[in-house]
Amino acid sequence: MKILVIGSGGREHALVWKLRQSPRVSRVYCAPGNAGIAAEGECLPVDVKSVESLLALAAQIKPDLTVVGPELPLQLGVVDEFTRRGYRIFGPPQSAAQLESSKSFAKEFMQRHHIPTAHYAICDSTKDVADALPHFHMPVVVKADGLAAGKGVVICKSKEEASAVAAEMLSGKMLGEAGARVVLEECLKGEELSFLVLSDGERVAALAAAQDHKRVGEGDTGANTGGMGAYSTQTVVDAQMQNWLLQHVARPVIAGMKAEGTEYKGVLYCGLMMTARGPMVLEFNCRFGDPETQPILMRLESDLLEALEASIDGRVSDGDFRWSTDASVCVVMASGGYPGTFEVGKKISGLEDVEKVAGVKVFHAGTTKHDDAYFTAGGRVLGVTARAASLDEAVKRAYEAVQKISFGGAYYRKDIAARALKK
Ligand code: AMP
Ligand code: GLY
Repeated sequence: MKILVIGSGGREHALVWKLRQSPRVSRVYCAPGNAGIAAEGECLPVDVKSVESLLALAAQIKPDLTVVGPELPLQLGVVDEFTRRGYRIFGPPQSAAQLESSKSFAKEFMQRHHIPTAHYAICDSTKDVADALPHFHMPVVVKADGLAAGKGVVICKSKEEASAVAAEMLSGKMLGEAGARVVLEECLKGEELSFLVLSDGERVAALAAAQDHKRVGEGDTGANTGGMGAYSTQTVVDAQMQNWLLQHVARPVIAGMKAEGTEYKGVLYCGLMMTARGPMVLEFNCRFGDPETQPILMRLESDLLEALEASIDGRVSDGDFRWSTDASVCVVMASGGYPGTFEVGKKISGLEDVEKVAGVKVFHAGTTKHDDAYFTAGGRVLGVTARAASLDEAVKRAYEAVQKISFGGAYYRKDIAARALKK
């Protein structure tokens, strides 16, 4: 089989790496991919923001299956267009991708279907914000309605700060169109959990759960990012909690979508806060998480291709995934300055040595290659991922590998999975 993976990040590198292990896969293409992916598949320079270009590519290479990594092509309807032309593609249709691409849609959907989430107000003007703010305790969370690559959420300590941030978003200065509408939200306390399920539009199967580290700074401080590291173990959620989340979150979403006329096929990522009042949904993503996918797929022992096809063909079952009891962790190495401004084009050294560390795999995100040397090309550069029998050992191996890699201005958090290790 020929597979086309759409995207260019660490998540897509992990998808390509895992799909290549399937005995039924003969060739993997990635559009546009990155320098790390190019070592395992064929990268084709196509803009993921253009569904037309992706269709033209499909007409040329005739993939037997296309797998969509990032949210943007989903929001643009790539699944609908590919399906219309008879291409098999993994992911939800445009109507379902709204769960991720519009926070106000997601909040109202959750309210309609009784899915636990924080109190909120949807605001289209500074007047709406002024009217709503008195009803919130501080801190309060201000969120841009649209897609903002993990950067559209600001936790505000005071009402003044919240109205200033909301005004900035609404004016379009901060995030363009994505901030034309904002959602104010009650600030929740607790540990975060990334709970992903595979769905065929009717049934769901849980993936191994993971914990992401969204803030740029150690101890979960500083700005929100796309994710600075993640880990996955057998105990991130126990069987009882998994059942609760399936019953109260994942299944109601898929059933709610169906009741509203949308067949949700693909991965549903439930971003949760485990609060004293119970789990509450922070967000939904309509795709695999990045960086969660890197440690999750490191623990997957069964064939990923079989699972993705079960979703498309309407035969998802609990047996679709077999997980290792090992733990895994991914430490993101980023360009200094990320998620703000940063420089690119720094030479990366040490990559040859790292995979000698047992159980380590380096997934590339923002990298390019010239004359046999790798250079930085984005905010998140590498996802250094390790697997071992215990979380402690996986963390040790990941940081041992990180230490071998260097590039100008390299930044990484030193406390990925530290809280779990303390427990
Ligand atoms: P979101 O894109 O909505 O998931 O928000 C990104 C990140 O902001 C989450 O992963 C949390 O770390 C944080 N966050 C979002 N909503 C809340 C909330 N209501 N309370 C506390 N933190 C939040
Ligand atoms: N790691 C968060 C996300 O994929 O959106």
